[in-house]
Amino acid sequence: MANENKWGSSLAFILAMIGSAVGLGNIWRYPYVLYSNGGGAFYIPYLVAIFSLAIPFLILEYGVGYNYQSSFTKALIKIKPKFEFYGWVLPVVVFIMAVYYSTIIGWDGIYLFLSFFKGWGADPNTFLNVNLLQSTDSLSGVFNFIPFVAIFMIAGWFIIWFISHKNLDDGLGKVCKVFVPVLFVIMFFIVIFSLTLPGANIGLAELFNPNWSLLWHFDIWMAAFGQIFFSLSLGMGAGFTYASYTGDDIDLISSGLYVVIANSAFENFAALGVFSILGYMSLQSGTPVSQIITQGTTLIFVVYPQVFNVLGTIGLIAGPLFFFTVYVAGITSMLSAFEVLSISIQNKFSLTRRKATLILCLVGGFASMVYATSAGGYILGIADIFVNNIVIIFSVLVECIMFAWIFKAERLIDFLNSRSKTFKLGKWWLIHVKYIIPAILIVIWVGGLYELLSIKTTESVIIIIVLALITIISSLIFTKRPAKTKDWFETEERIK
Ligand code: PHE
Repeated sequence: MANENKWGSSLAFILAMIGSAVGLGNIWRYPYVLYSNGGGAFYIPYLVAIFSLAIPFLILEYGVGYNYQSSFTKALIKIKPKFEFYGWVLPVVVFIMAVYYSTIIGWDGIYLFLSFFKGWGADPNTFLNVNLLQSTDSLSGVFNFIPFVAIFMIAGWFIIWFISHKNLDDGLGKVCKVFVPVLFVIMFFIVIFSLTLPGANIGLAELFNPNWSLLWHFDIWMAAFGQIFFSLSLGMGAGFTYASYTGDDIDLISSGLYVVIANSAFENFAALGVFSILGYMSLQSGTPVSQIITQGTTLIFVVYPQVFNVLGTIGLIAGPLFFFTVYVAGITSMLSAFEVLSISIQNKFSLTRRKATLILCLVGGFASMVYATSAGGYILGIADIFVNNIVIIFSVLVECIMFAWIFKAERLIDFLNSRSKTFKLGKWWLIHVKYIIPAILIVIWVGGLYELLSIKTTESVIIIIVLALITIISSLIFTKRPAKTKDWFETEERIK
């Protein structure tokens, strides 16, 4: 069983982790977050979040994952048997995220297909909302099923199944080794091209125009932490799981550093491209950038198609390349989210990788059909808030306490330092993971909940309660069902 789930090399691990990090969060989410939270001024909370939280926590998550060489759930049991329930809650939530994530991948698949002939027509806005998604801004559209959207979502699940059911290094490892570099190369060309468009400077000036006064607002700090966590796949068990597949010679400290650098480089580079394009659009249409920029979905599926329309024949090359990049970025991230629950059920119920993958893809594909309805976009927005405002931050907080205090982060230092070719951990690291990170997270989490209360409409509260119930009930079932493997309560530790 062990060989089934091992990376062939450290490079496979690093590229898979970069593949997990670089995703829709970098392209669909980041440019707007940067712009709407102070532009250039956003870099201060962003960098603070990276150095004070992301890097120290990432190393902790990798270290504990490496030590247990097993699923997140199994490791928590070893830390304390009582933790099993939480050990299921997180994989289930990450699976819920994977299901809505697959929806955006599906939409992107549609646009990839349409981009070869600009099938969105002259008015991409009407096309997206009226013709394609037939969006309703409430739950009322949940019974209006849209087969065309469903087909593309199922295609995404098929790809996930196809890659995940193979042995780790033959499937996931190979795909990441080939496609993650491809992702960077294509993005590089797209951004360079965007920077040469007339008007690019207008967009860039707008993006970086710093609004320093916002630094005193709690919101922009919360946005920075939320963005960094989501974008780096922190606290969601993805890094934990991938690190558990590494070999003894792995340099986890440096690997973490490379992942953080690659992820930030990618998202900031992507933002340059997005704003150059918005500047170009602004010049063409005579509309200020501030009126063109919108949130993720509209940005990718309305503004971009508009730009490809204006670009004429070049749009027929740039369009497919762009939507292909988003597709690859999405799939490599979703693979890591999928893996967390998959390996947990493999470990407890003695399932082979093939079987677990098949079962989860069928369940996920089926569940995702709720997003292939007119209410899909609406539910997706709320599911995203559920994951981002409630779960991620809470989860990093809980893990920090479990890993740093109960597992004892001190235990990892010698091992991690002995392999590190870049920097070494010292007392500062322990202070971060034990005190600073939990303290900051408590403040942010309460702030996030407060923000959530302000958006409450009866329907959104219902959706959040349903998601919470699904999480609790399925975690209870997973916890209560007897294990099929004899060693479920025994996990060997690699660091003595
Ligand atoms: N990091 C991914 C992105 O930026 C999202 C993700 C989060 C993937 C958690 C896996 C686990 O899009």
